[in-house]
Amino acid sequence: MPVLTTQAKKDFSVHTEDSETQQHGSNTNVKVQLQSVSKTYTNGSHALLNANLEVKKGEFLFITGPSGSGKSTLLKLLYGQELPTQGKVIVDESNVAGLRGDRLSLFRRRIGIVFQDYKLITQRTVAENVTFVLQAQGYTRKEIQRRLEPTLKLVGLLSKADCFPDQLSGGEQQRVSIARAIVGTPPLLLADEPTGNLDPDNSWQVIQILQKLNSFGATVIVTTHDEQLVRRCNHPVVQVRNGQLSRK
Ligand SMILES: Nc1ncnc2c1ncn2[C@@H]1O[C@H](COP(=O)(O)OP(=O)(O)OP(=O)(O)O)[C@@H](O)[C@H]1O
Ligand SMILES: [Mg+2]
Repeated sequence: MPVLTTQAKKDFSVHTEDSETQQHGSNTNVKVQLQSVSKTYTNGSHALLNANLEVKKGEFLFITGPSGSGKSTLLKLLYGQELPTQGKVIVDESNVAGLRGDRLSLFRRRIGIVFQDYKLITQRTVAENVTFVLQAQGYTRKEIQRRLEPTLKLVGLLSKADCFPDQLSGGEQQRVSIARAIVGTPPLLLADEPTGNLDPDNSWQVIQILQKLNSFGATVIVTTHDEQLVRRCNHPVVQVRNGQLSRK
């Protein structure tokens, strides 16, 4: 079942093109840089080795590479979940490794993250999972309601708003995690295998949703194994191999 209706696209456009969005910063773009970054985990696993990358503001970039090559690690370095063993990770002119406490929290507010393992809160409904970040960011109740419906419509889950994650299929849970990442229209969106559990139709719809956010100025970085999907889009691709990154 296709998830993206024309009406949903229109509704989403309305909620992303207003003053509240501007106040929370969706149309300030983000530049991302990795400078000679290596990452070795404490157990000795090497994920990245002297990796360099520059992502321009407003770019839509795919990251591909074999399982275990370091794609998730790369995204984790960008939002400060992991720290580089060597080198610098710079996002929006901030050295990510130097951010702590409130500054790290504020930095992360500007990033939408689709986690490879979804990370949904099992005791909260779909609607609550999607909106709790907005609540934490101090959006008004009215604004949260105004954003929730078009976002759920966009990912085809309006009828499941009151379900709990364990009442959903894997693909539906994945779409909740996408809704949660985009509802605040962040200037940087990091999506780790956002189509990993979806059929080709739904995968394509999700890519279109991410492209929509990108068309409003967001920088979007997507990891994927789906070669067909990458070929279908005309976006730049970075390959992770042997810990290093190369643009294809
Ligand atoms: N928390 C961790 N502790 C130790 N080693 C880790 C940790 N996370 C990842 N690794 C190792 O780092 C390497 C890169 O892992 P990563 O998860 O970044 O790969 P990936 O490209 O995302 O793989 P996949 O396509 O399977 O998701 C692997 O060798 C992995 O075993
Ligand atoms: Mg991964």
